[in-house]
Amino acid sequence: MLPRLSQLLLAALALSGVVSADPSGDEELRDFFAREGAAVKPLNLGRRSAATTQTRHLRPTYEREETILKKRDITPPDIGQVADFGGQDPEPIRNGAGDTFFANSNHEIDAQNPDNVAAPPTDAGTVPNLKWSMSLSHTRLLKGGWVREQTITDLPPSKDLAGAELRLSPFAYRELHWHRVAEWGYILNGTGRISAIDDSGRSYISDVHGPSNGSDPDIYYFPPGVPHSIQALDQGLEILLIFTDGNFDATGTTFMLSDWLAHTPLEIVAQNFGVNVSELGGIPQKDPYILKSTVEPPPFGHASEQAVADPQGDVPSPYVFHLDQQKKTNAPGGWVKIQDSVTNFPVSKQLASALVFVEPNGLRELHWHINDEWLYIISGHGRATAFAGGSTARTFDFQPGDSAVFPVSYGHYIKNLSPTEPLIYVELFKAEKFVDFSATQWLALMPRQVVADLLNISIATVETFKKEKQIVIA
Ligand SMILES: *[C@@H]1O[C@H](CO)[C@@H](O)[C@H](O)[C@H]1NC(C)=O
Ligand SMILES: *[C@@H]1O[C@H](CO)[C@@H](O)[C@H](O)[C@H]1NC(C)=O
Ligand SMILES: *[C@@H]1O[C@H](CO)[C@@H](O)[C@H](O)[C@H]1NC(C)=O
Ligand SMILES: *[C@@H]1O[C@H](CO)[C@@H](O)[C@H](O)[C@H]1NC(C)=O
Repeated sequence: MLPRLSQLLLAALALSGVVSADPSGDEELRDFFAREGAAVKPLNLGRRSAATTQTRHLRPTYEREETILKKRDITPPDIGQVADFGGQDPEPIRNGAGDTFFANSNHEIDAQNPDNVAAPPTDAGTVPNLKWSMSLSHTRLLKGGWVREQTITDLPPSKDLAGAELRLSPFAYRELHWHRVAEWGYILNGTGRISAIDDSGRSYISDVHGPSNGSDPDIYYFPPGVPHSIQALDQGLEILLIFTDGNFDATGTTFMLSDWLAHTPLEIVAQNFGVNVSELGGIPQKDPYILKSTVEPPPFGHASEQAVADPQGDVPSPYVFHLDQQKKTNAPGGWVKIQDSVTNFPVSKQLASALVFVEPNGLRELHWHINDEWLYIISGHGRATAFAGGSTARTFDFQPGDSAVFPVSYGHYIKNLSPTEPLIYVELFKAEKFVDFSATQWLALMPRQVVADLLNISIATVETFKKEKQIVIA
């Protein structure tokens, strides 16, 4: 009876994606369940036929119709996995606690956030919401594109950074402007051309592209005060924008050139530029934010044709970083590309980032940082638990377009829940250098007895801990 039960459990755990696709590799876990099996309430769990094994969650199957249990009666062995509701909408029920939704609920939001509805028993205490879907942001529609933001009013724990998505139609401009804070951009799709000058009047113009032709996209960075603009090229453009202040919408943060001139006496504007007032009769009286171009620019790759001869020369350190020219740091369960001012992108003094690729079932290891981490899901589905200290923790579920924050020092992991699709996301920090601490590395490098005594595990087990950061575990 016991071996059979443990095998079934392992099959189910493998399906859940919690353990691994191949339970035969998990001998220790098998032994554990063989030992502990009697304490786990027997459930009629079985491997679903191959054609229907699309779920990654524990799912009971029933041999006979008449033995069907009510959902509320099911207590699967709870190792903290995503609660399973047999493909039905999640209900606030877990481990014999809770009850069904008796009136109504937003089932689509529930389905995206099963860990809000029926959290793992490891969650505890009050941890604020750390997640914001860009789909909940107000979208400003403009002639030539749109923009939507996540600022501190949407996600109060994100104090260091705010984010936005910006879409430009083919050839449309994000108008000339500057910010009190630094701006970092990740090209989500399409092609564009950015232009700027530095404080010595040295100019910069460069084309940027999204993840086209199987390559990673470009990143750009503008230091505080550096005036810039962006024009989409023939494909149009969508950008993830990050600003180094959560309160990004505050007055005094963003300055549009046309807005400034519209609020300066025209006589002064004319004298300033040394032109006749009559030349300026048509300048806009309201900043457009995004505007269409009147003439098609030279195509992608021909930015230099538009460059103005600059007596001061070019900026010494580029504002664009080509992720596709950077080598991956390979990890057992994926890879990462780190960009920061100390390592490879000197100008990016206030923004460090990591593009993280997590293979199916992979795990971004337990770790923490010395700055707030802001993250954005590019593709795939993830699950993360934020440990806030003081016996409090909260688990979140992520889908593409979600942003989130792990406040400084919060311990966390991110698990790719899918057995087939990669999880791709970016981690961002208001910092000149990417810094993280790995829990495994820490324990591997401490005196073994200290760890063995604390965790009540054998020295032999402690000796297996990896001394190098794993970054992403298979
Ligand atoms: C970019 O947009 C095109 C056209 O809508 C689409 O086919 C493609 O999948 C998008 N690429 C990415 C990386 O989202
Ligand atoms: C992608 O490949 C096509 C065809 O080779 C090329 O025209 C285009 O410029 C490439 N895009 C980028 C961003 O390199
Ligand atoms: C400005 O332009 C107007 C109209 O062309 C002209 O009459 C006037 O003399 C000009 N003023 C100066 C200072 O050049
Ligand atoms: C350590 O774990 C063993 C089981 O492996 C258990 O019997 C024992 O009570 C634990 N000790 C402490 C101090 O929790």
